[in-house]
Amino acid sequence: MAEIRKVGIVGFGVMGSAIGLNAASSGYDVVYKELNDELVQKMYDRFVVGALRKRVEKGKMTQEQMDQITSRITGTSTYEGLADCDLVIEAAVEKMDLKIQVFEDLSKHCRPDAILVSNTSTFLIEKLMERVDRPERTAGLHYFFPANVNKLVEVIRSKHTSDETYQALMEFARQNRKVAITVKDFPGFAINPIFIASYNVLDSFYDGQTYNVATLDDISKEALGVRFGIMWVQNGSGLGTAYHAAVSMVEYLGDTDIGYPPVPEALKRQFESGQPWNLEDGPVSTDPEVRARVRDRLLGAIFSIATHLVDREVVSLGDLELGVKTALAWPKGPFALMNELGMDEAARLVRLADEEGYFRVPALFKDGVPAPWDLG
Ligand SMILES: NC(=O)c1ccc[n+]([C@@H]2O[C@H](COP(=O)([O-])OP(=O)(O)OC[C@H]3O[C@@H](n4cnc5c(N)ncnc54)[C@H](O)[C@@H]3O)[C@@H](O)[C@H]2O)c1
Repeated sequence: MAEIRKVGIVGFGVMGSAIGLNAASSGYDVVYKELNDELVQKMYDRFVVGALRKRVEKGKMTQEQMDQITSRITGTSTYEGLADCDLVIEAAVEKMDLKIQVFEDLSKHCRPDAILVSNTSTFLIEKLMERVDRPERTAGLHYFFPANVNKLVEVIRSKHTSDETYQALMEFARQNRKVAITVKDFPGFAINPIFIASYNVLDSFYDGQTYNVATLDDISKEALGVRFGIMWVQNGSGLGTAYHAAVSMVEYLGDTDIGYPPVPEALKRQFESGQPWNLEDGPVSTDPEVRARVRDRLLGAIFSIATHLVDREVVSLGDLELGVKTALAWPKGPFALMNELGMDEAARLVRLADEEGYFRVPALFKDGVPAPWDLG
């Protein structure tokens, strides 16, 4: 198996820098590429020195540890600077043409055996790698925000990814103290299709009155058993990101035999207003009917997409449960939630999601009520 020692990162913004710090803290040499020398310096001051100094000041890290990490990180504004990397992680802005060009350039400048991966959230890996020589060394490595805290990494195998590349990436994730799950090249991969479906359904109820933000957030907390509701989490990732990701998922899946809940008008309006959701916009409704209406549709959508993903072998049931619990901090994954509610109720909610036009009924539910899931 190819051993990874030196890691290149293209784009040292929010995600790239956190991925780089994570790798450098785990003992890897890191070289990042930014667009020009000015940005190389700016990103170093902000994301390397700035971030680590704060940790030292708070007593979470010694000056010696900080010096060790900084000594492993260097910057460059040219592809030549990445020529001797064993692995290059692309974390540039989310634009398809730009990413395809980055990978063509990497293919020309990096060693022929260097592994090339993207941290894209929305594009298919196979598409991004279409101009790379030796596509068997390409894959996706999808981190979650904030990448130095969130433990999950999705290792995305496209149909070209070799076993050797895949094994090297699993080992890299392990060395970085991450929880890695294996996912096929699929729109949004495994975790985001579930998360985005959840907020598409919730946001579609928003009317500023009965269904205010506070009520919708509270319903999601109760239904999923989470500490931070889904309206709150959307604010955290930014409504612009949330909106664009929703548009992308609907474009990919809306007209397929999977389906997808439409992009909510309310999310579009809120994003365009430039304001986050106001989490304290009024009383939380305690009316059981009001709450059940949303809860049933939220859970129905989650159960449907989770079953479609497993049905199509995008991800294993075990990895999906682990991934949702790790990345989204849900105490239970979709399949444990279905078992807990009972499969008759789960089947009712899956059919409701179909009636609402969110998702078509997954094959495993087509012939009636499946047996409880084997959670191992
Ligand atoms: N922010 C998130 O929550 C999140 C989560 C998972 C994945 N992602 C993905 O990670 C990627 C980066 O997102 P981000 O939030 O860090 O963006 P960002 O805007 O903070 O950083 C992108 C950086 O890439 C640099 N860049 C652009 N083109 C470049 C090039 N050709 N060469 C070198 N550098 C270049 C920019 O100067 C910028 O510093 C995107 O693909 C995004 O979809 C983001």
